[in-house]
Amino acid sequence: MERRIKEILALTPSDEAVRAEGWVRTRRDSKNVSFIEINDGSCLKGLQAVLDRAIFSDEDLEEVATGASVAVIGRIVASQGGQSVEMQAESLEVIGPCPQDYPLQKKRHTVEFLREKAYLRPRTNLFGAVTRVRNTMAYAVHSFFQENGFIYVNTPLISASDCEGAGAQFQVTTLDLANVPKTEDGKVDYTKDFFGKMANLTVSGQLEGETYALAMKDIYTFGPTFRAENSNTARHLAEFWMIEPEMAFCTLEGDMELAEKFLKYVFQSVLDKNAEDMEFFSKFVLDGVVETLEHVINSPFEHMTYTDAVKVLEKHNDEFEFPVSWGVEIQSEHERFLTEKIAKRPVIVTDYPKDIKAFYMKMNDDGKTVRAMDVLAPRLGEIIGGSEREYRYDVLVDRMKELGLDPEAYWWYLDLRRFGSVPHAGFGLGFERAVQYVTGVANIRDVIPYPRYVRNCEY
Ligand code: 4AD
Ligand code: MG
Repeated sequence: MERRIKEILALTPSDEAVRAEGWVRTRRDSKNVSFIEINDGSCLKGLQAVLDRAIFSDEDLEEVATGASVAVIGRIVASQGGQSVEMQAESLEVIGPCPQDYPLQKKRHTVEFLREKAYLRPRTNLFGAVTRVRNTMAYAVHSFFQENGFIYVNTPLISASDCEGAGAQFQVTTLDLANVPKTEDGKVDYTKDFFGKMANLTVSGQLEGETYALAMKDIYTFGPTFRAENSNTARHLAEFWMIEPEMAFCTLEGDMELAEKFLKYVFQSVLDKNAEDMEFFSKFVLDGVVETLEHVINSPFEHMTYTDAVKVLEKHNDEFEFPVSWGVEIQSEHERFLTEKIAKRPVIVTDYPKDIKAFYMKMNDDGKTVRAMDVLAPRLGEIIGGSEREYRYDVLVDRMKELGLDPEAYWWYLDLRRFGSVPHAGFGLGFERAVQYVTGVANIRDVIPYPRYVRNCEY
């Protein structure tokens, strides 16, 4: 394998001939030399190759244009310019030329323009940096859980149960939609469908994750999740990645402790490994993003019950689009207010009213609130949602009936409460929201390679 540009840039000058491969970002010509900057995505910086016009003719360089793929062989020398080293080229090969209509010319493009060119955008500084940071974070997710003894479990993507009970699911079917088989009473006859029953893409791996936690003690999942929510916002995707740890013999306190430790670990890994990319985000995306991360890592998260949060927020109702009162959903404007104006750091809100949370959360003794927790981050609002689970069979069945869910459909989930049930808890971190938080990128569509959202499924 040839050296990557990141490795070449770390070399000290020597007489060894080195081969550099990548895509031309820019070319500058003067009378006696041409300069080309080559980038291969291994780091933000490109390698400058200096081409002596006494060696390279106009013809040799004819196809060296922005976007072309090239291989250059030369010696590494100390740089005349700002960079530490550059390449004194001895030979050059254009592997794939690139015509003038290449969309990524040397100027700043808007993220909206780049979204239309999603197949090329990893070749820009912004998306290169996002891609590297996302990679670091994915690796950190695994190393955090592995170092802490958690077992990685792959839960199914096609599922017959609705975890969040929100009905925002994509259906999976092989039925001919132009000719749907019907039962006698006019309903869709799912016995004729591929699985013999209705199936959907999963909205969460939690329910299946719980069954593994109740065998393996501490597990986590990390996979794609699908939601057919009609939310056209900067923090919703129809396909996103979620990390869901689940711990047996654990209550909400242990769950919150894990969430805080986990987020800090993942954030720290980016500061450790992606200093150059983070400097780029600070300069061009969000001023102060590095300091914010350092601050978050160094301060304990604030804790607040929903009831207390509502008391604080009610005092500012005239500042909100949606006024707050006990029982209503806390919206993102309120989440931002709590984190940015009140706590000035992440806040964990607990014990939400049962009516605004999912069926599986453990009921508090007051009969009105559940052992839920949301981790709210400044700028973004909710990045983690979790809870202690209802592990008492009767209480869970009553709750399901109350919500109009059919206990039969969740028979295995209920069985888990009959066969060695135990307090357990977990949470889900939206991976893209975490990447947004770390990079400062405003729109979630720009932190995933190919965003899927309402009316958009290009590529
Ligand atoms: O709060 P949510 O819906 O929780 C669950 O799915 C639980 N089953 C998790 C668990 O306890 N194991 O989703 C968890 C997180 C949210 O906090 C948010 O960060 C992210 O997933 N999320 C989304 N991210 C992008 N686009 C969407 N449409 C999202 N919906 C949720
Ligand atoms: Mg949630």
